[in-house]
Amino acid sequence: MRVIIVKDYDRMSKLAAKFIADELRRKPALVLGLATGSTPIGMYQELIRMHKEEGLDFSKVITFNLDEYIGLPKDHPESYHSFMWKHFFQHVNIPESQIHIPDGTLPMEDIPAYCEWYEKRIKEVGGIDIQVLGIGRDGHIGFNEPGSSLGSRTRIKTLARETREDNARFFDGNIDAVPKYAITMGVGTIMEARMLLLLASGPNKAEAVKKTVEGPITAMCPASIMQLHPKAVAIIDQEAAKYLEREYEVDMG
Ligand code: PGA
Repeated sequence: MRVIIVKDYDRMSKLAAKFIADELRRKPALVLGLATGSTPIGMYQELIRMHKEEGLDFSKVITFNLDEYIGLPKDHPESYHSFMWKHFFQHVNIPESQIHIPDGTLPMEDIPAYCEWYEKRIKEVGGIDIQVLGIGRDGHIGFNEPGSSLGSRTRIKTLARETREDNARFFDGNIDAVPKYAITMGVGTIMEARMLLLLASGPNKAEAVKKTVEGPITAMCPASIMQLHPKAVAIIDQEAAKYLEREYEVDMG
């Protein structure tokens, strides 16, 4: 895995946006795998700035989001649909028909067939070029919680207590309001992307980053599977990198 240690959140965000912008200029019909959470917000802001100030063109881009809660209406403020429109899609020129976010409003019994369709759509458009990833404190990528099969595909996943506790801050601190289930791309789905771009910032992520980069590959830290990917880049700020013991690229901007 290529690890780049950066000064802070701002530098992480700008460097991540630059990776995407460089690829997008080379391949206008880029297929982007996107993530939600606090981590990629700065990256989206920088991409929006590049769109508005430098004319970075997203008109041919196709996107697939990693995951979505089950049971929240799409217009619920904490749905990942709302998140993506608020933080990215409403500010750039990706046609709506080219945007894919798992549909968490379907009845449970219809979701497995829907997940198969989602996988098929990714293949139909030629696969994901760059998959952006955050990491959970428990080492999850997407909502692939510890114990997830490292070969898993898009499916329903039960959220870990740790994840629901972390996300309770978005639901007025009420863990009972956090959905219990989500649709997530599988670890196997993620690993088929041509490039993985993992972002991590802050001391809360330091332990998960250490396990991901320097620990054994294990389903108990799903992000550790990135060690097997031929083109995985992790951009980690100093605080999240504080437990790493080996030598890495350093970019202090
Ligand atoms: P965060 O979430 O970016 O809000 O820290 C990351 C994740 O849970 O994957």
